[in-house]
Amino acid sequence: RIAYVNGRYVRHADAVVHIEDRGYQFADGVYEVCEVAHGYIIDQTRHLDRLARSLSELRIDWPVSRRALEFIIREVVRRNRVTNGMVYLQISRGVAPREHAFPYPPTRPSLVVTAKRLDRAANEAKAEQGVRVITVPENRWERVDIKTVGLLPNVLAKQKAKEHGAAEAWFVDPDGTVKEGASTNAWIVTWEGKLVTRPADFGILRGVTRTTVMDVAARLGLEVEERPFTVEEAKSAREAFITAATTLVMPVIEIDDHPVANGEPGSIALALRREFFDIAE
Ligand code: PDD
Repeated sequence: RIAYVNGRYVRHADAVVHIEDRGYQFADGVYEVCEVAHGYIIDQTRHLDRLARSLSELRIDWPVSRRALEFIIREVVRRNRVTNGMVYLQISRGVAPREHAFPYPPTRPSLVVTAKRLDRAANEAKAEQGVRVITVPENRWERVDIKTVGLLPNVLAKQKAKEHGAAEAWFVDPDGTVKEGASTNAWIVTWEGKLVTRPADFGILRGVTRTTVMDVAARLGLEVEERPFTVEEAKSAREAFITAATTLVMPVIEIDDHPVANGEPGSIALALRREFFDIAE
């Protein structure tokens, strides 16, 4: 495998960053995960738009131009012969002697890009089965709209889910409403067949898959309502599902050991999953 690190394509096993990289010391960096399908980067424009926003919110400069980054992504995918899989890219503020405030004069931001193949058949089998989720109290900072590598609450929540035999943990606010998963957005389908997902203006990440699923829903003639929903509403909903790059649309069959409807993957979630690839460029 080949990775891109700060201007070089190197063997994945030999790829290293400096011990005083601010991504390593302060989680002072941002990232993106993109789905690769049939050799194409799905929703690349939306991912890079969100990256631009994350960088600007943290006042980190682009390490290379957007055009150059697009080229590097394609090159990493090509060199790893990935037709179905994922691209991971991370940008940190760079390498500097450890001090909390931004380095001055500014350092060159660090850029790492990797790609790997994913087992699409295993993912499809999982979607046919559906997954379980657990709920955990929201304990993250307020700026989760920025896709930073500061993911410790997400790591702990996901580990807890795993120990419960669940695929995801939903962060829940004190008022009982669901924010999102540790690495996915959360959705339900009402008994009237409406899709419901939390507004992404504040307190969750605006998932690229979430946005594209809205396009897919429109194509299928499904109505989407952006509003908060509670854990209780989700448990008694017609369907629930989660969305993210690589996960795509994944039906949820159980929430905190409580089956969603009959405990089978929902037909609307599965229809959205099938339709997804036709609309994502
Ligand atoms: N996670 N919410 C959170 C907290 C996420 O970390 C992610 C993505 C999403 C879904 O966003 P998108 O549809 O753009 O992938 C929502 C990636 C996949 C990860 O951390 O691996």
